[in-house]
Amino acid sequence: MKKILSGIQPSGRPSLGNYLGAIKPQVSLQDEADVTYFIADLHAITVRQDPAELKKRTYAVAAWYLACGLDPEKSTLFVQSHVPAHAQLGWILNTFAQMGELERMTQFKDKSKRHSHNINVGLFGYPVLQAADILLYNIDAVPVGEDQKQHIELTRDIAIRFNNHYTQGKEGAKPIFVVPEPMLPKTGARVKDLQNPTAKMSKSIDGKGTIFMEEDVKSIAKKIRSAVTDSGSTVEYDVANKPGIANLLEIYATVQNISIEAAQNEFSGQQYGAFKSTVADAVVAEIEPIQKRFNELMNHRAELDKILKVGAEKANIQAERTLQKVMRKVGLVPPAV
Ligand code: TRP
Repeated sequence: MKKILSGIQPSGRPSLGNYLGAIKPQVSLQDEADVTYFIADLHAITVRQDPAELKKRTYAVAAWYLACGLDPEKSTLFVQSHVPAHAQLGWILNTFAQMGELERMTQFKDKSKRHSHNINVGLFGYPVLQAADILLYNIDAVPVGEDQKQHIELTRDIAIRFNNHYTQGKEGAKPIFVVPEPMLPKTGARVKDLQNPTAKMSKSIDGKGTIFMEEDVKSIAKKIRSAVTDSGSTVEYDVANKPGIANLLEIYATVQNISIEAAQNEFSGQQYGAFKSTVADAVVAEIEPIQKRFNELMNHRAELDKILKVGAEKANIQAERTLQKVMRKVGLVPPAV
């Protein structure tokens, strides 16, 4: 089975767009690959965080993924800071990353502008820690969006550089790191704003066009029923001329796990009002049990802690194995066991 890993920033308040576009497809990958997801709390602190908020969001991300169906038996879910090897390998890899290549990272340049009062060393080294996250686990593919491709390229460069350094001129020496490939993330729906269906559903606009996963289901249904459509009357998937209808069809198809054509056929001849009610009901039917499970987990931190502990233990076994191998290669004396 293909080994896939991704880190998730602890932002904690997912929208319907995040769920249908990212979380749902990420969770479904567990059926076809060996998936590892972790909450990238060490990356998060490279910009200032409110401690109580960070803690809450870390739990919330874990709870959302589990509530959305991530199965801790099939997959591995853990908190990055619970597996010390990430920071340890990150340190070693710092010595294989060049100032010049880190200075060229687009995310570093952007974040330095946005946080110009706090351009800390952690922010600069962020991609090196990300390389450690990946290289510890012999990962084949990392599903990431456009903005993270450069970091995956850097991870490959560091892995190849390290492998070459310790194998060059040594007959039969095996490479230490698996060199990962970037992978187009399994795409879910590209959900648009319900009031402005040519723009992405944004989390920063807290209005009638955005649905949050934690929102009261009555309010969710109301927002869908009052979504902007056009003055026509046929339910067709036509993004250019009927963006509002197309958005609702995409939402419906993703929620029901059916194709857009199948969704469109289901509503042929129906009025917009009836169509929107059916979409609203389907979304509520999907989200309500997720919310219930989310709230249960958030109210039973001990259960969440237990799941995260098991995840960290699983991750730690593989991570330690790689770290020990790296330490030996570098010439660091491994601690006696
Ligand atoms: N940098 C990623 C982001 O901002 C999060 C991340 C951290 C990550 N470590 C990773 C993603 C390792 C993939 C693999 O989204």
